[in-house]
Parts: sequence; structure tokens; C-alpha cells
Amino acid sequence: MDPRTWATVDDYLTDNLLGSDDALGGAARAAADAGLPDIAVSAPQGRFLTLLAGMVGARSILEVGTLGGYSAICLARALPPDGTLITLEADPRFADVARGNVDRAGVGDRVDIRVGTALDTLPTLHDDAPFDLVFLDADKANNAAYFRWALELGRPGTVIVVDNVVRSGAIADTASDDPGVRGTQHMFELMATDPRVDATALQTVAGKGYDGFALALVTG
Ligand SMILES: C[S@@+](CC[C@H](N)C(=O)[O-])C[C@H]1O[C@@H](n2cnc3c(N)ncnc32)[C@H](O)[C@@H]1O
Repeated sequence: MDPRTWATVDDYLTDNLLGSDDALGGAARAAADAGLPDIAVSAPQGRFLTLLAGMVGARSILEVGTLGGYSAICLARALPPDGTLITLEADPRFADVARGNVDRAGVGDRVDIRVGTALDTLPTLHDDAPFDLVFLDADKANNAAYFRWALELGRPGTVIVVDNVVRSGAIADTASDDPGVRGTQHMFELMATDPRVDATALQTVAGKGYDGFALALVTG
């Protein structure tokens, strides 16, 4: 299969299923204009996050890894007017771009961007917990630690989504010394062995390549 087909199908789905979206299109353009890396979720993946947050009736969402706010907009759209999304970003310049994007998208009143390395900001969130949904999408080397925090700040019923867990297939290389692969493999070990969690992971192909996401439900 030619990876260009994945991009063509993503474009087809975006044009014919999702429809035009000025806020998300504008957010992507603003992020590109500001020189941010092109590593946000795709439009279909973003809609998946919106639907998932709506399906679980999320009122309180935690995101680790804001970038320019693309996925934050998708998640915040599912919140009720008094709902909140706290999103953690290490780079203050990225956080500034995200602030503008979420405000222009009309969800700024629900989005709280906290700047700092996530392992420093996560321990400050106990008063904001429990979160109904947690989306982990930052530095993959720390995925196991972020997953532990998602459990700490969740409750039975919390849904945890982790992006980029397949890494073009590298996840299956048990001898890998890539920190992102190692961190994600460690996270899978925790997911598999923690009796409080049911989890799976799905491979995806998309305009942004071959990857996948993990989905976990806190059961106890
Ligand atoms: C894949 S991007 C997030 C994409 C975003 N979720 C989206 O789909 O629109 C990862 C982000 O995590 C941030 N990041 C990396 N390491 C971090 C850390 N230790 N703490 C907080 N944010 C971090 C990066 O600066 C980057 O903006």
C-alpha cells in the first residue's frame, strides 16, 4: 500500500465526511505560520477525540501536550459550557499560539493552558481531579509516568487515550533503544498488569503516516 493513498483517503474523509471547519483550519494555519512542527492529530483523529469525549459525557478533561491547540479545540468542543480542559505544554511559545487558537475557535473559556514540563505540572492538579478523560500526547519517553499520573488523577470510569503508540511499527521491536519506544513499551506493561485498567491499542494509517493509539478504561 502506497502511503500517499493514506493521505488521499484522509483528504477524502475530511472533505466528504467531516466537512469544512474554519476554526480548525485556522488553527492549523496559525500553527504552521508560527513555525510549529506538523505533529498535531489529523482532522479525522481530532473528530474521533470530539466524539469520544462526547460519548463519555466528559465535563473535565486533561491533555498532556498542547502544541498549537488543535486537539485541545477538538476535545473542548465536546465539553458543556461549564466544563474544563486543562492542557499541559512545556514550550511557552507553543502555548501562546494555542491560546490564540482556542480563543479564536470559541472554546477559550473552557481551556486552561498550563505551561511547564508535565512531570512538574501534573503533581499540581490534585484539586482539579478527577478527570473524566485524559489524552496523553507529549514526549513519548515519559508515557509510563504520564499513564501513572492519569490513573492518579482519574476515577473508575475515566477514559485514557494515548497517541502515537505504534511509531511506524517500532513498538514491536523489544530491543529498541529509542526512548519513545521504550517509554511506550513500559506504559503498555503497566496497562497490561494494572488490575484497575482494561486497555487495547489500534494501529492507524493516515495522512501523517503509520501509527496508532491506545485506549484504556479505569475500572477500579
Ligand atoms: C505531538 S505534540 C501535541 C499535539 C497536540 N496534542 C495536537 O494534537 O494538537 C507534543 C507536544 O508536547 C510538548 N511536550 C513535549 N515534552 C513535554 C513535556 N515534558 N511536558 C509538557 N509538554 C511537552 C511539545 O512541546 C509538543 O507541543
